[in-house]
Amino acid sequence: MSTSNPQLAQWVDEVARLTRPDRIHWCDGSEAEDRQLIDQMLESGDLLELNQDSHPGCYLHRSDPADVARVEHLTFVCTRQEDDAGPNNHWMEPGEARKKMLGLFEGCMEGRTLYVVPYCMGPVNSPLSRCGVEITDSPYVVVNMRRMTRMGKAALERIEREGSFVKGLHSTGELDPERRFIMHFPEDLEIMSYGSGYGGNALLGKKCHALRIASHQARSEGWLAEHMLIVGIENPQGETHYVAAAFPSACGKTNLAMLIPPTSHKGWKIWTVGDDIAWLHPGKDGRLWAINPEAGYFGVVPGTSPKTNPNAYDMITEDTLFTNVAVTEDNQPWWEGKKEGKPAIDWQGRPFDANRGAAAHPNSRFTVSASRNPSQSPEAEAAGGVPISAILFGGRRKDVAPLIFEAHDWNHGVLVGAGMASETTAAATGAQGVVRRDPMAMKPFCGYNFADYFAHWLNIGQKLSQPPRIFHVNWFRQDADGGFIWPGFGENLRVLRWVLDRCHGDAEAVDSPIGYLPTLEGIDQTELDMSREAMEELLSIDEGMWRAEMAEIGDFMGQFGERTPEQLMKEFRKVVDALEAR
Ligand code: GDP
Ligand code: PGA
Ligand code: MN
Ligand code: MN
Repeated sequence: MSTSNPQLAQWVDEVARLTRPDRIHWCDGSEAEDRQLIDQMLESGDLLELNQDSHPGCYLHRSDPADVARVEHLTFVCTRQEDDAGPNNHWMEPGEARKKMLGLFEGCMEGRTLYVVPYCMGPVNSPLSRCGVEITDSPYVVVNMRRMTRMGKAALERIEREGSFVKGLHSTGELDPERRFIMHFPEDLEIMSYGSGYGGNALLGKKCHALRIASHQARSEGWLAEHMLIVGIENPQGETHYVAAAFPSACGKTNLAMLIPPTSHKGWKIWTVGDDIAWLHPGKDGRLWAINPEAGYFGVVPGTSPKTNPNAYDMITEDTLFTNVAVTEDNQPWWEGKKEGKPAIDWQGRPFDANRGAAAHPNSRFTVSASRNPSQSPEAEAAGGVPISAILFGGRRKDVAPLIFEAHDWNHGVLVGAGMASETTAAATGAQGVVRRDPMAMKPFCGYNFADYFAHWLNIGQKLSQPPRIFHVNWFRQDADGGFIWPGFGENLRVLRWVLDRCHGDAEAVDSPIGYLPTLEGIDQTELDMSREAMEELLSIDEGMWRAEMAEIGDFMGQFGERTPEQLMKEFRKVVDALEAR
């Protein structure tokens, strides 16, 4: 196989001359190819077979112990002007970055196979979709890309029709953290990633293309590429409304996107459109329309149980790739919070010893095709996407942020998103549980200067005659003993109902300096085991804490200087003044 696209043929040629692989394989995305790659990895030890009676088609990959998460300090946005990448990104001059990467890639595929992986982000027939080609020497990346994207023949055909595509070059290299870089060249639609096999660093269609490169592209084309789930909420009358939500990594997107309604909510049904990334386009009708560019889930395993998320729990019993989970005596995958079985071998392949910490890595992941999700939305393949009624921003905050509040309008909502903060998690290397500012959950993913990004968000609002309402949620408020106050998971539907009621003008709210809060009766508490005091605490704000919070947001905005949009600072001062006036 090869291609009729001369630009692609030439690039593959150049890369092959640089990296010197033994073989070149053009991926067609077929089942036979997938099977052959899995067999080959079972042979080499890159994959281990899990118990095929309980988990047919499931395999385990153990990564290098020093390669288990995204590496933000080694991720660069290489624009010609440093200011265009902004203080929110690590920057390197594009010429210097290329030189560095060419040095690393030289001869790196000797003895290996070079795989050419054409893929399409979004439904292959959608004008909103975008294609890319990843060149990699990792068969693990190929089988993951097949589950996460529309990969192979159909994507290549679209590339040959359209001409343009994002170029992503990847090699696992020698997995040395000292020789690891993830470089983005948004002005040239190019990615170079060396030295990591971890999902966010190596599956280039996901964070690198669909967020960092796409956000940059979206700005010049008038749309948004966001770190958001997309979910359809069907009420007992059979009407479905769509909500998009941006939470930082490991803060509940996949779970909310696959929520199962509590028993108190008969007749309600949740439909998953996407669990991690949304591409949002202003429609001719003045509404905002969303597609999910992905075709599968790369989800956090720990915490998945028949109680927290029966949908996800069942979904990952077949045709699923596990990375860095533990296994039981009888070779079933095991993780913290599973509730069934116990670990025999830990994620590093050693006999389990509780003194060495968790059996499964806290950022262990499953990779599974969206078609395995019993709640996958029939609209997930819709070429024009789905209309968004509300946008939620949220994160992990043990205090400060109430369960939910609503922004006064779009512009205030942009401030609410821009002012987001969350406690860090195991999804990225570095300290965990530290509060950091993470605007729109895009701190690790925005491919350009945040000040320009906020301005772009404000502009998008101008194009919408029926903009989504904007909310902020927090499932992670803690009590004095460090326990979560809100039960979360399926019960989050109660909060989504208030969101939809607000969108349809059916719910009262209490105005406050930070936005509208629900009344105590606003959140349906039928069959909810929770005290009135706890609910009051979740739905109230501490104005002293919010003054301190606004001061931090002000400091954060300060780093963008003159580039910060005036309208955003106006929104900021409105909140600060309202808090002062109390
Ligand atoms: P994502 O990385 O944003 O997609 O987050 P996930 O949905 O995978 O969840 C990350 C972690 O947070 C998992 O361990 C979940 O069990 C946990 N989690 C998700 N939703 C909730 C919730 O509503 N409440 C609580 N307490 N934990 C949650
Ligand atoms: P997550 O996706 O948001 O589901 O954690 C992976 C990541 O963001 O690294
Ligand atoms: Mn993510
Ligand atoms: Mn997720």
